[in-house]
Amino acid sequence: MYTSEMLESIKKVEARRKENAATEPRRMTAEEKDALLRAYHPDYKEGAEFVNLAVGPNKGEKVPKELGALLQGNSRVQPGDVDLNAPDYDVDVLIIGGGGAGASAAIEADKAGAKVMVVTKLRMGDANTMMAEGGIQAADKPNDSPAQHYLDAFGGGHFAAKPELLRTLVTEAPEAIQWLSDLGVEFDKAADGTMITTHGGGTSRKRMHAAKDYSGAEIMRTLRDEVLGRGIPVVDFTAAIEIIKDENGRAAGAVLMNMETKELLVAKAKTVILATGGAGRLHYQGFPTSNHYGATADGLVLAYRAGAKLLYADTLQYHPTGAAFPEQIFGALVTEKVRSVGAMLINRDGEAFMHPLETRDVSAASIIRECSTRGKGVPTPGGVGVWLDTPMIEMKNGAGTIEKRIPAMMRMFGKYGIDIRKEPILIYPTLHYQNGGIDITADCQSGVENLYVAGEAVGGIHGRNRLMGNSLLDIIVFGRNAGRNAAAKAQGVKAAKLTLSHVEAFKEELKAAGVETDTVSPQLLPDYRRHK
Ligand code: FUM
Repeated sequence: MYTSEMLESIKKVEARRKENAATEPRRMTAEEKDALLRAYHPDYKEGAEFVNLAVGPNKGEKVPKELGALLQGNSRVQPGDVDLNAPDYDVDVLIIGGGGAGASAAIEADKAGAKVMVVTKLRMGDANTMMAEGGIQAADKPNDSPAQHYLDAFGGGHFAAKPELLRTLVTEAPEAIQWLSDLGVEFDKAADGTMITTHGGGTSRKRMHAAKDYSGAEIMRTLRDEVLGRGIPVVDFTAAIEIIKDENGRAAGAVLMNMETKELLVAKAKTVILATGGAGRLHYQGFPTSNHYGATADGLVLAYRAGAKLLYADTLQYHPTGAAFPEQIFGALVTEKVRSVGAMLINRDGEAFMHPLETRDVSAASIIRECSTRGKGVPTPGGVGVWLDTPMIEMKNGAGTIEKRIPAMMRMFGKYGIDIRKEPILIYPTLHYQNGGIDITADCQSGVENLYVAGEAVGGIHGRNRLMGNSLLDIIVFGRNAGRNAAAKAQGVKAAKLTLSHVEAFKEELKAAGVETDTVSPQLLPDYRRHK
C-alpha cells in the first residue's frame, strides 16, 4: 500500500523506535507554544482567509470568510412563503438538531413534562457525536477534582473560556458520566468494575472515559434509543431555515423545510433549542474534515439573523491527527487516544519531534511546521504527513492492546491493507471542531429570549482551544441543562403574534451596508460538485 518513498522512511522510524519510546521529547514552554501558534496555526493567519462582518451583533469582528458569507447571506424564506397563523406543529419545546446535545435536551425536557419535538435535517444521530472516538472527560477519580479539570481546560483554552460555562462543565461532569452509564452506555471498565480512564492532550490527570475508540457512537446509540423509547416525536430530513419570533422579540418557533420536497412548514413553540452542531463541512482554509456531512454552521446563521451574538467565531480546532493516507480516508479522525495509549509523532527521518500529548492547537501547529518550513514531512499523493508510530503502542503495552483499545482504528486502516500493529500511519491536521459559536449564559440562553443553545453551536465553553473529551461532555451537560431550562421557561410563555420581521430587517441592514450576495443560507449540506 505504501509508496517506496514511504517505505524508506518507515525503515528510519523502525530503526529509532526503541530510542524514541525511551526518550519522550519534553513539553514546550509557554513562550515556545505562543511563537509556534502565531507562526503556524491556521487561526492566526492574517488576510484573505477571514472577513470582518459588516452587519449584525458582531459587526466589525473577524470570522472565517466561508462563515462570513453565510452569516451575511440571503434568507431561504421570502415574505408570503409561509402562513405563520396556521402552524403545522405547535409544541412547548422545539429542538433543532438530532445529535447528542439535541437528544440530551429532548430527554430532559420530556422528563420535565414538556411537549417536545426534535427536527433534524438528516436522521436522529447523524451528527458529529456519532463520529466522536476518543472519550469523554470527567474528574471522578480520587486523585482528581473538578477544580483540577477546570485548570487544565482553562489553560488549554488560553484562559478565554467563559468561567461560568466552564465551571458548569467540570462540576456537572461526574454526574453526566453516571447519567450515561445509567442509561446504558458501556464504558470501558477494569476487572473490578471501575472505569478505565486515560490522559488526553493537556490533562494533568487520567480522566478520559471511553467506549473503546467509538465512544461517540456508543453514547449516541444510547441517547437515540432513549429518545425513541420515550416516544418523543422526531421529524427527520427536515431542516430549520429561519427562527420565528413573536411580536415581543422572543423566539417562538422555526420555519422548517422538507429536505426532499422543499415544502416549507411552520413549527410554533414556546421555547426553542438550537443544537445544530459544527461547521467542518465548510472546509475552512481548504482543510479536509473529520466532521459529519451535515456540519455546515446552520445554527450560527439562524441565531445571528435572529439577533444573537456570537463568541470567538474566528477560532477553529484543527485536530492534529487526521488521516493523510490513503486518499479514501483523507481527513478522517485518527483519535487522540492512539497517542494516549502510547503512539508518538515521528518525522520522515524517524525523529520524535514533539511531546505526543501537547494541547491540540499546539500539536497541529507543530505538525504543520514539521511538514512546511522544516521540510520533514512525508509526501503523499494528496499532500504531506508525518508518522504516528502505532507499533510503538504494543511495544510499550504488550500484544493485543491495539485490538482491545482502538479496534476502530485498526479496522479503518486495515481495510486499505495497513496493519497498524505493524506499520505506522500517516497523519496531518484536519478541521475538527468549532471552538466559537453562539454566546450563551450559564442557563444556556442566547441573546434572544427563549432561544437556548447547546453543544458545538455554543461558543465560549472551551475558550480558544478545546481539550479532547470536553466536547462529548459539553453536549451532555449543556444539552441536559438546555432541555430542563427551556421546559421550565415554556411553562410561563403566553402566546403572542408570530413574525419574521427580523428577517426583513436583517435584509435591510445588509442593503444599507452595501452587502450584495448570491449566497443563500443556512447552507444545510456541503456542495462537492466539481462542475456547476
Ligand atoms: O481524538 C479524538 O478522539 C477526539 C476527541 C474530541 O474531539 O474530543
